[in-house]
Amino acid sequence: MKFFVDTADVDAIRELHDLGMVDGVTTNPSLILKSGRDILEVTKEICSFVEGPVSAEVVAEKAADMIAEGRKLAEIAPNIAVKVPLTWDGLKACKVLSGEGKMVNVTLCFSSNQALLAAKAGATFISPFIGRLDDISLDGLELIDDIRTIYDNYGFDTQILAASIRTLNHARECALIGADVMTAPPSVIKAMASHVLTDKGLEQFNKDWAKTGQKIL
Ligand code: G3P
Repeated sequence: MKFFVDTADVDAIRELHDLGMVDGVTTNPSLILKSGRDILEVTKEICSFVEGPVSAEVVAEKAADMIAEGRKLAEIAPNIAVKVPLTWDGLKACKVLSGEGKMVNVTLCFSSNQALLAAKAGATFISPFIGRLDDISLDGLELIDDIRTIYDNYGFDTQILAASIRTLNHARECALIGADVMTAPPSVIKAMASHVLTDKGLEQFNKDWAKTGQKIL
C-alpha cells in the first residue's frame, strides 16, 4: 500500500519523506488554509522533493473553469495530480484533463456509484472519505471494500486512495481490504509506530540494561 501524506505542512512532509514513508502528498483548500501559504508556492516546494503524485485541488464549480485551473496547477510540476470534486462538472473536467495525460484525483467520494463514474471518466485516483462517513454513522471502510470489489470486477485501473483516515484501525483495515493508497495526516502515520507493549518492553529492557553496568559504545 502506498502512503500519501495528507498535509501542506512542508516540515512534516520532509520528516516522513526522510524515512521513506512518503509515496505522494494530498492537499485540499482546508489544508492550504491551515498551512498559511500560497497554494502555488507551497505546492511547488512540496514537488521539489516529493517524487510521487502531489494532489492540488481546483476550486471552481464549472467544468470549463476547473479545467483551466487544473491546467495551471499541472504546470507547477510533472507529478501534480489535479484534484477535482465528484460532481457532474468535476467528472467532465476529469475526462478532459485525464485525456490530456494529466493525473486526476477525484475527491469527496461518498458512494460506490460515484466511484464507478469516476473510473469511467478516467480518474487516476478515487478518494473515498472514510472518517466523514463514520461521522454520520455510516461505514467508511465498507465503502472502500465495495469499491475494491467493483473495480476488481471490471478491471478498472483507477487507484483507490483511501482518504479522511483518522484512526489506526482505518489504516489497518484499508491495508487488509487492499486500498491502493491511503492518505493520512502525519500524526496518524507516526502513531502507527506506537504500541503500549513496545513501550513497556523497552522500559523493562532499559532497567535491566542499567543493572548490567555495561556499555556498547
Ligand atoms: O484527504 C481528505 C482529508 O483531508 C479529509 O480528512 O479528516 O478532514 O475528513 P478529514
